[in-house]
Amino acid sequence: MKYTIGIDIGTSGTKTVLFDETGCAVASHTIEYPLSQPQNGWAEQDPADWANASFGTVKAVLEKSGVNPADVAGIGLSGQMHGLVMLDADDRVLRPSIIWCDQRTGAECDEITARVGRDKLISITANPALTGFTASKILWVRNNEPEVYAKCAHILLPKDYIRLLLTGVYASEVSDAGGMQLLDVPGRRWSDEVLGALDIDRGLLGDLYESPDITGYVTEDAARLTGLLPGTPVVGGAGDNAAAAVGVGVVNDGDAFTTIGTSGVVFAHTDNVCIDPGGRVHTFCCAVPGAWHVMGVTQAAGLSLRWLRDTICTEEIAAAQSLGCDPYDVMCAEAAKSPIGANRLLYLPYLMGERTPHLDPDVRGAFIGLSAMHTRADMTRAVLEGVSYSLSDCMGILREMNVSPTVMRLCGGGARSPIWRKMLADQFGIPTATTNSSEGPALGAAILAMVGAGIYKTVPEACAKIISLRDEVKPEMASHEAYQPYYALYRGLYGNLRDSYKALAKL
Ligand code: XUL
Repeated sequence: MKYTIGIDIGTSGTKTVLFDETGCAVASHTIEYPLSQPQNGWAEQDPADWANASFGTVKAVLEKSGVNPADVAGIGLSGQMHGLVMLDADDRVLRPSIIWCDQRTGAECDEITARVGRDKLISITANPALTGFTASKILWVRNNEPEVYAKCAHILLPKDYIRLLLTGVYASEVSDAGGMQLLDVPGRRWSDEVLGALDIDRGLLGDLYESPDITGYVTEDAARLTGLLPGTPVVGGAGDNAAAAVGVGVVNDGDAFTTIGTSGVVFAHTDNVCIDPGGRVHTFCCAVPGAWHVMGVTQAAGLSLRWLRDTICTEEIAAAQSLGCDPYDVMCAEAAKSPIGANRLLYLPYLMGERTPHLDPDVRGAFIGLSAMHTRADMTRAVLEGVSYSLSDCMGILREMNVSPTVMRLCGGGARSPIWRKMLADQFGIPTATTNSSEGPALGAAILAMVGAGIYKTVPEACAKIISLRDEVKPEMASHEAYQPYYALYRGLYGNLRDSYKALAKL
């Protein structure tokens, strides 16, 4: 039996899972780390935390599983997209990583649009200039910390920094590189035109691969620190969403899934490049060579629930401790007692600005309609509903682009909640289902490693053997109708509040 390892460098922690060649998880280990928010709308992490967590979790899964490292056929990396890691010529990290949900780069987005031109930017990078994407972060460092930029010799994405530590190779792959806004997404290569217009040296970027390609081999040093054998292949892997797609078997035209992690994503696989001219959803290369995906993003999906838990749910946390369960289970069970509409309470999930459909770094969260009669159960229900409305916004745009899935696969922490699964089925008006593995991106990365190691010939072939559907929830059309007046109000609120948010951001 051969094994592969998937390492997923997430926002709340790194999860590493060792799988056998049938996709069965043999051992799993997660190490968490902090997110620093030095200013409202900023978000940074220390790449050293990712490195310690990646090495520590690989070591742990090898020890827990007892698998002979010689039987590990390959490693796949997955991770949070867009984060900027800058290294000097000796590979020293120059500053904390500015990560995907950071919103400080509004001015740099204007600069990018002015330098490249909006239409050209969308036709090449498949996206308008976005605060979350890496290019605007690079320009922010150049504009605000020129002394740091002057020392920068390498620019890498979070998971590609871990690749460097494992293999000594500066490389990326097309699914994650698309989120840098420096890639020619239809052509699947770095865009000399965009790099030239932004005056960014191509030599700062790594070599590009497709996701299942072998990019390098574990070095002696990395082997000593992890317990892996030197020479173990490391494949390209994928950005967390493209990796999750593989992990839930969304690898054929028209297949779709929704994930609720820190952010929320509605993702559809397309065999042809399909770009929203309004730039409201992203188009990226997917992890299946030669295919793409479109996806809408809710910036604060699971993050909204985590924020609620950490700020006001002390009683639920205590109750969960005595029951021996997760505080989210207690919160969701209470939310289920509140009716559709949460007793006329609406929540806008814009804690970290919003991407789909507003593309607005200045918008922030809100409870609308708060009354003295509302309880934490209503507030929790409103948060679950508000995040789901935002995901419905994403789904609506995909439908406008003629992507009409017949079933929505669900993954991420939010998919563990029965009430959230039902809410999404009711709001989307199509069945939802989970899959036989809950490991999402880590499984996707491990499947890419299986293909790279030759255990399977193609990604779709591997997924057909490994992934099956579970827990199908059919939509109730009466509930679907009951959500509509609340959703209509929710959709109007952004326009009503936009000017107030802009003014607030200036104070
Ligand atoms: C996608 C995005 C997030 C991150 C973090 O564009 O920014 O989904 O990948 O998970």
